[in-house]
Amino acid sequence: MSQDLLVIHGLTRRFGGLMALHDLGFSVQEGEIVGLIGPNGAGKTTAFNVITGTLPPSGGKVHFDGRDISGGPPSRVVAHGLARTFQSTSTYPNESVAENIYRGLLSRISGSAVGLLTGRRHRTLSPQAISAEIDEILRVTDLQAWREAAAGSLPYGLQKKLGIAVALATQPRMLLLDEPAAGLNHEECKDLTQLLRRLRDDGLTLLLVEHHMALVMELCHRIVVLVQGEKIAEGTPEYIREHPAVIEAYLGAPDYAHA
Ligand SMILES: Nc1ncnc2c1ncn2[C@@H]1O[C@H](COP(=O)(O)OP(=O)(O)O)[C@@H](O)[C@H]1O
Ligand SMILES: [Mg+2]
Repeated sequence: MSQDLLVIHGLTRRFGGLMALHDLGFSVQEGEIVGLIGPNGAGKTTAFNVITGTLPPSGGKVHFDGRDISGGPPSRVVAHGLARTFQSTSTYPNESVAENIYRGLLSRISGSAVGLLTGRRHRTLSPQAISAEIDEILRVTDLQAWREAAAGSLPYGLQKKLGIAVALATQPRMLLLDEPAAGLNHEECKDLTQLLRRLRDDGLTLLLVEHHMALVMELCHRIVVLVQGEKIAEGTPEYIREHPAVIEAYLGAPDYAHA
């Protein structure tokens, strides 16, 4: 764990007069799990959108594995090995679980020059290889029993897990998770924690936006705290838990977990 995989520098994003992100800088090392926390409206999702190329930055740079990926487009960012999930469920409800995962795999087949150059994409994948990969992802995410079910028929927690499965199908080196535990019941949350721990143990690098502090504190090596678009603190879970400004702006608020 010594090499920086994601490096963000001076990242700024305005929406009209609103400064949603201001001069944000932090890095994530290979194999690390970093939490990005802060109250609602702090700019966490905007940070994800800018990092993954969904939104252009108003200023600043994003480097991934030494390459400048600032400004996307998202397909290029995914081709470099940086995938994300969304705050709400984002699957195709009328398609089966397997078909949704296939959409993630497709990002590696429909070859852009970047993907072919980096060796992350293929011109074709055989039907057998596709089927085997889908089976493997279903196994990792424990969704085998739902292979042919319509995504929209799954319980909410499994729909969110399918979002992770689709992202995994792009074979990322790093995954950005936007509130994966939001709306999950206690059992689903335990299940998600186990999945994230397995991904961590497999060496996947994670950036985790989440209000569920027990989960964040348990999983993360390091935490970055955003308030009103600015980083107010960064450090280990122990450091962040005791940080006066973080307690005042976020952790001390009685209803932060439901914000
Ligand atoms: N597309 C957009 N257009 C205008 N304002 C936006 C847009 N996206 C986010 N914002 C604003 O930027 C701020 C940060 O939002 P967001 O990144 O969603 O926060 P978080 O994910 O931390 O809750 C909020 O004030 C929000 O209203
Ligand atoms: Mg958000």
